[in-house]
Amino acid sequence: MTGPRFRALPADGDPLRVLLVGAGGMGRAWLGTVAASPDVTLVGVVDLDPDAATAAADGVPGAVAGTDLAAVAAASGAQAVINVTTPAAHLPVTLQALGLGLPVLGEKPAAASVAEALRLAAAAELAGQLFMVSQSRSHDRHLRRFRDQARRLGPLGVLTTEFFLAPRFGGFRDAMAHPLLLDMAIHPFDAARYVLDAEPVSVYCQEYNPSWSWYAGDAAATAVFEMTGGVRYVYTGSWCSPGLETSWNGGWRLSGAHGTATWDGEGPPRSSLDPAPEPADDGAPGGIAGALAAFVHALRTGTPPRGEIHENLLSLAMVDAAVLSARTDRRVLVAELLDAAHREALAAAGPEREALSSWPSARTPQ
Ligand SMILES: NC(=O)c1ccc[n+]([C@@H]2O[C@H](COP(=O)([O-])OP(=O)(O)OC[C@H]3O[C@@H](n4cnc5c(N)ncnc54)[C@H](O)[C@@H]3O)[C@@H](O)[C@H]2O)c1
Repeated sequence: MTGPRFRALPADGDPLRVLLVGAGGMGRAWLGTVAASPDVTLVGVVDLDPDAATAAADGVPGAVAGTDLAAVAAASGAQAVINVTTPAAHLPVTLQALGLGLPVLGEKPAAASVAEALRLAAAAELAGQLFMVSQSRSHDRHLRRFRDQARRLGPLGVLTTEFFLAPRFGGFRDAMAHPLLLDMAIHPFDAARYVLDAEPVSVYCQEYNPSWSWYAGDAAATAVFEMTGGVRYVYTGSWCSPGLETSWNGGWRLSGAHGTATWDGEGPPRSSLDPAPEPADDGAPGGIAGALAAFVHALRTGTPPRGEIHENLLSLAMVDAAVLSARTDRRVLVAELLDAAHREALAAAGPEREALSSWPSARTPQ
């Protein structure tokens, strides 16, 4: 992989003109965040459902609504796309936007599989445009503090996340395969890489659906990852676990040679070595506002952000490797999974094939 190289946009003092694709539940959250940001201005909305696109653009002066991304991009003079479609649509929408020469900020997961995400990394290279995945939960200031505490624990042994909730979404999650691993566990997997500053080597996972589950796909899983440096990351979660629920970030515990840090996923993390209260809020935006600010900063400065597609691939690789392990009931090596995904991506690729075939390895350069 040639790695993240993308065209920066001049910091001309004007807000970035953005086009939102996908005006569903999360799209509405993004509309609020875009409206509140001085960095961007909404110039268009696209959805397969014309009424949803029109309703989302309603009241935004000059915003164009429609069902055709190319047409709305041209009519609105958009400079960037925010892709908030369902995971299955991430590949075609982001491919099209990059092909139009537009940088993309996409909701997690990058795509429905690592093979698809590899095609998007190649398409971003081909277009010379930034594709950043919004991992909103990675912009939490408490997570940053937890990571700082991790640095002081000495050699690390094991990091655990426990995630137990019982949401009734309706919609695509109830019908999709692997709803917990693909739609939710991508958040803690990405955060685990960040906290440990380590990459996944292998995983053993069991995925299952409790008898009372209201999801069609497996809504519970336990996965044991070996990370670089030998540290283990153990994730156990369920999306149909009513009562005494955890936070949406889950409950975290990190054990090192010199001490332990814990985080309930909501408040300040605690460390046995550093009982001082958390420093005051530095005002940096969190959640999707944090992802949007990082995207605009990256475009203005040319500095690759966390979540840039090449960097983000290994978070999705953790998901796919866990799913494969559960399906085959064996330990899966992430390097093998990446090689297989690379072959699959090559077989399916369009114009991005040349960039894909130029990579000596699908393993992201670290
Ligand atoms: N970061 C978070 O905390 C968080 C929370 C919820 C959802 N999400 C992510 O946001 C994304 C959207 O989730 P949602 O809950 O809003 O889903 P949703 O089903 O409510 O909305 C998706 C919208 O995309 C539209 N769409 C689908 N394919 C399209 C295409 N090809 N072109 C244009 N529009 C298309 C649909 O018509 C729908 O309006 C998912 O990737 C999900 O994982 C992230």
